[in-house]
Amino acid sequence: MRRYLRIVVLCLACGFCSLLYAFSQLAVSLEEGAGGGGGKPQAKAASWLAGGGRGAARGAGNAGSTAHPGGADRCKDFFSLCYWNPYWMLPSDVCGMNCFWEATFRYSLKIQPIESMHLAVVACGERLEETITMLKSAIIFSIKPLQFHIFAEDQLHDSFKGILDSWSFLQTFNYSLYPITFPSENAAEWKKLFKPCASQRLFLPLILKEVDSLLYVDTDILFLRPVDDIWSLLKKFNSTQIAAMAPEHEEPRIGWYNRFARHPYYGKTGINSGVMLMNMTRMRRKYFKNDMTTVRLQWGDILMPLLKKYKLNITWGDQDLLNIIFFHNPESLFVFPCQWNYRPDHCIYGSNCQEAEEEGIFILHGNRGVYHDDKQPAFRAIYEALRNCSFEDDNIRSLLKPLELELQKTVHTYCGKIYKIFIKQLSKSIRDRYDRPPKER
Ligand SMILES: *[C@@H]1O[C@H](CO)[C@@H](O)[C@H](O)[C@H]1NC(C)=O
Ligand SMILES: *[C@@H]1O[C@H](CO)[C@@H](O)[C@H](O)[C@H]1NC(C)=O
Ligand SMILES: *[C@@H]1O[C@H](CO)[C@@H](O)[C@H](O)[C@H]1NC(C)=O
Ligand SMILES: *[C@@H]1O[C@H](CO)[C@@H](O)[C@H](O)[C@H]1NC(C)=O
Ligand SMILES: *[C@@H]1O[C@H](CO)[C@@H](O)[C@H](O)[C@H]1NC(C)=O
Repeated sequence: MRRYLRIVVLCLACGFCSLLYAFSQLAVSLEEGAGGGGGKPQAKAASWLAGGGRGAARGAGNAGSTAHPGGADRCKDFFSLCYWNPYWMLPSDVCGMNCFWEATFRYSLKIQPIESMHLAVVACGERLEETITMLKSAIIFSIKPLQFHIFAEDQLHDSFKGILDSWSFLQTFNYSLYPITFPSENAAEWKKLFKPCASQRLFLPLILKEVDSLLYVDTDILFLRPVDDIWSLLKKFNSTQIAAMAPEHEEPRIGWYNRFARHPYYGKTGINSGVMLMNMTRMRRKYFKNDMTTVRLQWGDILMPLLKKYKLNITWGDQDLLNIIFFHNPESLFVFPCQWNYRPDHCIYGSNCQEAEEEGIFILHGNRGVYHDDKQPAFRAIYEALRNCSFEDDNIRSLLKPLELELQKTVHTYCGKIYKIFIKQLSKSIRDRYDRPPKER
């Protein structure tokens, strides 16, 4: 009897081990499928594994052309962030092999809760609807939870609260509302600079002292892919980089800074601060080289002297100050390609953002008010489609067809001619997140 029992136990143990092995092989092959660039093989395996359900193929793709995560790279940290995701539906920066082991040990190890992604925006004047649409686009596609930091003029607070509270059933985001604040001694001077409260963003590292990293965006931004993907660029920073932005222009012949600026600026054409990813821990720690004193200054000490010195020479306010700072500290900037901050400048005189032509637009930036006038109908069509849609899965899935028809009406404009790049990534994001795998396959 004893002997039988031993044999049975042995068999069970062997069976368990081979099962573990089989699943780990599966994790590896899924990983390879995802690494290949296309979402297809992964999606198929995922639908088999997940047996349907929304978002089965979420993890496909990677974070853009400069940021190809090499397979080996992603597997370095043994334990990663898959606690709340089954390992076959991973965010793009996570290695399937890790998650397999992590899932195996989940119950014997205390794993920290998932970190939120922090997103900040500054809303003044008539920017309520635009800001709400931006936040909606962030929520629709993102995978990890979001923490919004909304800086707004006092009269907008009730409206924000009303709308965001009505979305709280989603449980994928939290928010905090803040008044517009400046360092008290120079408040008046800062408020005058550029538009009423755009320079607020310069002070985010000093105000949000507890926050490690932050994505700042203008109100006229629309996310066409998960915030997770730009957030994952933080991990690509080398040891000296503290912030990431896109160039102001791709084409020097129409660049602003290189033709008109009366102050130093970063690189060939300057940088645009409409989408700004920051490791604020590093920004608060760093001592910045500058052209005012021979000693290096910390973030909190550099801004006012800089404003005093360049007040008469700057045109675009705080963005100019950022350009001056990174001119003197170029090793601290991570430059991401134009498809992460795609503006009318990239197409109004003909297409000049090559990365977007290849992979589609990742983040749309409708500056110059193009969401609200008739100058760039392609930008406006995307804005209205997202503004009009709700959080219903069906509603989001059915957003594409009418949008494409709307875009086809814009082909008389330079931006409309390349309308396909406006929906290339958007369609993929919707597919990855909302398409149920067909039942019969
Ligand atoms: C939002 O905050 C509450 C309370 O602090 C917390 O329990 C919840 O997990 C948070 N949700 C997200 C998505 O961060
Ligand atoms: C401001 O612009 C003027 C005219 O181009 C230039 O002479 C001056 O040096 C600039 N000031 C600073 C602080 O760069
Ligand atoms: C930001 O930088 C600090 C200090 O180097 C580091 O500990 C932290 O992990 C970084 N944050 C992210 C999200 O990479
Ligand atoms: C980090 O990257 C920047 C930009 O490519 C570069 O200038 C800097 O030297 C790099 N820092 C290190 C420590 O390699
Ligand atoms: C969005 O809704 C408005 C009115 O609510 C309507 O006029 C407009 O045509 C809609 N736009 C799109 C692109 O669906």
